[in-house]
Amino acid sequence: MSYSCIKRLNSLLILYIISAYCLEHSEQSTESGYYPTIGILSTPIEKRDAQSNSKYSMFISGTYVKHIESAGIRPVPIWNNSTYKEIDLIMSKINGLYLIGGKTLLVAKNDDGSLKYSKYMKKVIYMIKKAIKKNDNGEYFSIFGTCLGLEVLFIYAANEYILESFNSTRYRSNLIFSEDAPFSKILKNADPKMLNFMAKANITFENHGKGISPATYLKYPNLQKMFKPIAYSRDRQGNLNIVLAEGNKYPFYGLMFHPEKPAYEFFFSTISHDFRAIEIGQYFARFFAEELKKNPKRFIYEEEYIEYSLQKYDTIYLHNPYEIVYLA
Ligand SMILES: *[C@@H]1O[C@H](CO)[C@@H](O)[C@H](O)[C@H]1NC(C)=O
Ligand SMILES: *[C@@H]1O[C@H](CO)[C@@H](O)[C@H](O)[C@H]1NC(C)=O
Ligand SMILES: *[C@@H]1O[C@H](CO)[C@@H](O)[C@H](O)[C@H]1NC(C)=O
Ligand SMILES: *[C@@H]1O[C@H](CO)[C@@H](O)[C@H](O)[C@H]1NC(C)=O
Repeated sequence: MSYSCIKRLNSLLILYIISAYCLEHSEQSTESGYYPTIGILSTPIEKRDAQSNSKYSMFISGTYVKHIESAGIRPVPIWNNSTYKEIDLIMSKINGLYLIGGKTLLVAKNDDGSLKYSKYMKKVIYMIKKAIKKNDNGEYFSIFGTCLGLEVLFIYAANEYILESFNSTRYRSNLIFSEDAPFSKILKNADPKMLNFMAKANITFENHGKGISPATYLKYPNLQKMFKPIAYSRDRQGNLNIVLAEGNKYPFYGLMFHPEKPAYEFFFSTISHDFRAIEIGQYFARFFAEELKKNPKRFIYEEEYIEYSLQKYDTIYLHNPYEIVYLA
């Protein structure tokens, strides 16, 4: 056989292997609908965002969207003007909820000085109750709350506005793990090197002025019944607050720090873009996906997903502090 002939045979063989490989994959792709979905509740628009475009009134930060998409989760928006009926319908399609961070009024004062929940908070409470009911009926339906998301989960559990002030805006810190951390669902499979890094490297980014101290946590039996602290951190004055928590009975998780920002956000100079900080984000995104996959509901047809997809909404580039945001 001539050299060129052998070469041709070789490339034919490679071609065959490649096409066999592709075929195998296209056979599997009859399951193309096999991706998890998450509902992301929009936050009411902030003033600075409204100024950039007044025809919109609700937004979803693209950072959270990229974060979950990095683990193959597809986003479904739940705009905060949705009716309860619309929320019921969306929640019957998705695998879990993502309560994202943002600045939103949670409580307002009644005329007599007592506090009442805002419209936004009432909607979140409705969704949490619905998620609890689903789990009680045997459906594995998870909730991930970040920053504001952890706060609303804790307020719901305590059934009282329990937030205190902390000095943790645009702030980097270390995690202090609780005695439950090694046995927790959210950390038990984490690489010990990653955990050590989170404990020592001053790398987790926080951006909040409110939070829940361990002392307050101990005052609310219903909160203790529902959530256990997995990690704490100290704010600028050294005060401890709960920055990672997980549900005792339900697959609900709260994060006060922002694992989603290192890979996708560049506005605050205190966000680390160290690979190890990015890997922490990838770890949590993957954990979310694994939890969501335990819920078996899937969109079978792409057309159906498109109907609910976040991708059909407008985006703008803000860089203040989110890079892009989705708007409605
Ligand atoms: C939704 O957000 C818009 C824009 O901030 C706000 O005007 C409206 O009151 C919110 N609706 C609910 C039901 O929370
Ligand atoms: C937060 O901490 C910084 C640095 O310690 C301090 O200068 C600032 O006054 C603190 N802010 C509040 C609201 O306590
Ligand atoms: C943690 O990082 C921040 C931001 O880079 C820095 O201001 C702070 O001093 C660091 N804290 C410690 C304890 O190293
Ligand atoms: C919510 O807002 C969107 C975008 O402005 C609009 O298309 C939709 O009809 C509104 N839904 C309700 C229930 O008001």
